[in-house]
Amino acid sequence: VSLGGVDVFAPAHSAANGETTRFPQTRYQGSKAKIVEWIWEKVRNLSFDTCLDAFGGTGAVSYRLKQARKVVTYNDLLQFNGLLGRAIIENSSTRLSPERIEWCLERRDIEYRRFVEDYFSDIYFTDNENAWIDQTIGNIQAIDNRYEHALAFFALSQACLTKRPYNLFHRKNLYMRLADVPRSFGNKTAWDAPFAKLFRKFAAEANASIFDNGRCNAALVGDVMRASSSFDLIYMDPPYTSRRRNSSNYLDFYHFLEGLAVYDDWADRIDWRSKHLRFQRQPSEWTTPRKLAAAFDRLFERFESSILVLSYRSDGFPSVDDLAQSMRRVKPNVTVERLENYKYALSKNTQSSEILLIGR
Ligand SMILES: C[S@@+](CC[C@H](N)C(=O)[O-])C[C@H]1O[C@@H](n2cnc3c(N)ncnc32)[C@H](O)[C@@H]1O
Repeated sequence: VSLGGVDVFAPAHSAANGETTRFPQTRYQGSKAKIVEWIWEKVRNLSFDTCLDAFGGTGAVSYRLKQARKVVTYNDLLQFNGLLGRAIIENSSTRLSPERIEWCLERRDIEYRRFVEDYFSDIYFTDNENAWIDQTIGNIQAIDNRYEHALAFFALSQACLTKRPYNLFHRKNLYMRLADVPRSFGNKTAWDAPFAKLFRKFAAEANASIFDNGRCNAALVGDVMRASSSFDLIYMDPPYTSRRRNSSNYLDFYHFLEGLAVYDDWADRIDWRSKHLRFQRQPSEWTTPRKLAAAFDRLFERFESSILVLSYRSDGFPSVDDLAQSMRRVKPNVTVERLENYKYALSKNTQSSEILLIGR
């Protein structure tokens, strides 16, 4: 299919019901879902078969590469993202049956913990909702099949995100959702939707995204610097740091979902002095501006035998010129692609444009 000169790969078809598969709508800071066709257009003529999506996030780019029949390895530092990668990228055929979806939503003969109910009262969700979350994650933990487990976790995590102001967990702000005032922001209807209804909706979206590209794809969790470097191409979309040195700390934004992914160990990971019970901060070069330039140098060196593809923003720190120079130390041919006029869903800055650096 050709759209305005851009070749669009025909979506794959799911074997089970003949419906066209589709990447689920997710709400995630820095997701490339909206510009993934542009990225694909820029990399499609490069010669590669195996690829690593090193900072995978929602998996939007992995999914596009999977549609293009590449051998895709998804990677992310956070466990909850790894589960999404497993559900949608690694998984080629498992879906949640209607019975399994309802099974997840019923009270079972399980000794449920009351972790969210006991500790997160009045922070993100109502008391009833917190109890529902404990019950549902308890059910999900009891699912043996790794793909069913990951799919159900996907549905739970998306339901939690949808009901959050700003789709984040960066503040104790349940009151914003509950206040009975006229408002000009946010999605009150989504906030008020019952959890079970959202769970069913996202389970259906996840089911509709599953397809087999005939290749063996994988989802990994870990630091990018520990991933294997034996891929034909590596796609890198690290956390963004602005010119003013504000960086995006994904664990701060999404700690609650990470907590659900490590439910039994959650208590050990919380910074109990924080009002909103975020995780203890781990030092990371990707969220420490003065360490960033060296981090990019090391990243490019580590993957120097692969084609390097880096997503970036024109107003990011370090500058695009500095990054191109760093890439040139390991790659003779570096090109810089720019997508003008791309508006960021979560930022008012319309000056910024999306950049792709490609090193061969
Ligand atoms: C800009 S987001 C990626 C967005 C993704 N391309 C998408 O379309 O959804 C950056 C991701 O890097 C992950 N991350 C942060 N530090 C990392 C590290 N050291 N190794 C691997 N992933 C990391 C974060 O958890 C976050 O999901």
